[in-house]
Amino acid sequence: MPKVAIVGSGFIGRGWAISFARAGHEVRMWDQTPAAADGARAYIAGVLADLSANDLLRGQTPDAVLARLVVCADLGEALADAAYVQESAPEKRDVKRDLFARMDALASADAVIASSTSALLPSTFTDHVAGRQRCIVVHPINPPYLVPAAEVVPAPWTSAETVEKTRAFLISAGHAPLVMKRELDGFIMNRMQGALLEEAFRLVADGYATVEDVDTGIRDGLALRWSFMGPFETIDLNAPGGVRDYAERYEGIYSNIFPQMLRRVDWSGEVMDTIEADRRKRLPAEGLVDRQVWRDRRLMALAAHKRKSDEEFGK
Ligand SMILES: NC(=O)c1ccc[n+]([C@@H]2O[C@H](COP(=O)([O-])OP(=O)(O)OC[C@H]3O[C@@H](n4cnc5c(N)ncnc54)[C@H](O)[C@@H]3O)[C@@H](O)[C@H]2O)c1
Repeated sequence: MPKVAIVGSGFIGRGWAISFARAGHEVRMWDQTPAAADGARAYIAGVLADLSANDLLRGQTPDAVLARLVVCADLGEALADAAYVQESAPEKRDVKRDLFARMDALASADAVIASSTSALLPSTFTDHVAGRQRCIVVHPINPPYLVPAAEVVPAPWTSAETVEKTRAFLISAGHAPLVMKRELDGFIMNRMQGALLEEAFRLVADGYATVEDVDTGIRDGLALRWSFMGPFETIDLNAPGGVRDYAERYEGIYSNIFPQMLRRVDWSGEVMDTIEADRRKRLPAEGLVDRQVWRDRRLMALAAHKRKSDEEFGK
């Protein structure tokens, strides 16, 4: 199995480490702050126990997966022999620019070097790198060991071979890559999430719906299908003649709405007072951490359910 290096062992680096170690790779972790990589190993041990309880370790024991994690004292040691490098350092362009130059100098000639960046375009932090053709963005959704989708975003100079190697590697590790043809602000998922959030803010700001009604519409409505189908498959199945029939029947409804959706909403303006008051009434600030634990449990149960249903009903 090819070795994998994790550079930056915070929230996301730890998540990737779990996913790649579970897939059978030896994972070498490095962080600029030595305590962070050690802390990550202890944190991962706790998560592995939860994953095992939900049958999400592919039949392996937590100890077997944990044994594949190696904390390294320096960057060169972490990168030695790694076929795939996943950088998850802070979201600062200068930090990534510096790291990419150093990683390129230390990594094996044919290794892929990927960044977890949420929003930086790869062309803005890999342009100066000698081996820039092997640099790419692989953007996860947190936590990557429960959410398979990962956005693969090439810079203009990323080679087709790098894109293909990255795609194949992610699939073999149990991920579902979305491969962009070229870079774009927000990639794919934040653009779609942004469109939905902007409309949610607008509905509340203009007094048409409560905060809870918007959440109910997604949680107890649209998201039930979205948890196993995308929007295109959803509309393909929502008209007798498929996707074209859907557009012919229903585009009119949407084209009346879109002109009303062009005005930007200030998320931090007055509407935030309404949203925050509603959220804090339902969930006091001191309950946020417990509720995050609850969310992760629900996500684990959903991941287990989706895996079983994929097997039983087909994908
Ligand atoms: N948190 C999320 O939900 C999320 C989701 C997708 C992508 N991302 C992206 O992942 C990356 C990491 O985010 P995070 O949430 O894990 O942050 P984090 O603050 O939890 O972790 C960052 C880690 O990087 C270390 N670090 C700092 N400078 C470094 C350097 N020069 N070299 C190596 N390590 C260094 C820190 O010690 C820390 O452990 C960011 O680019 C972020 O945008 C985050």
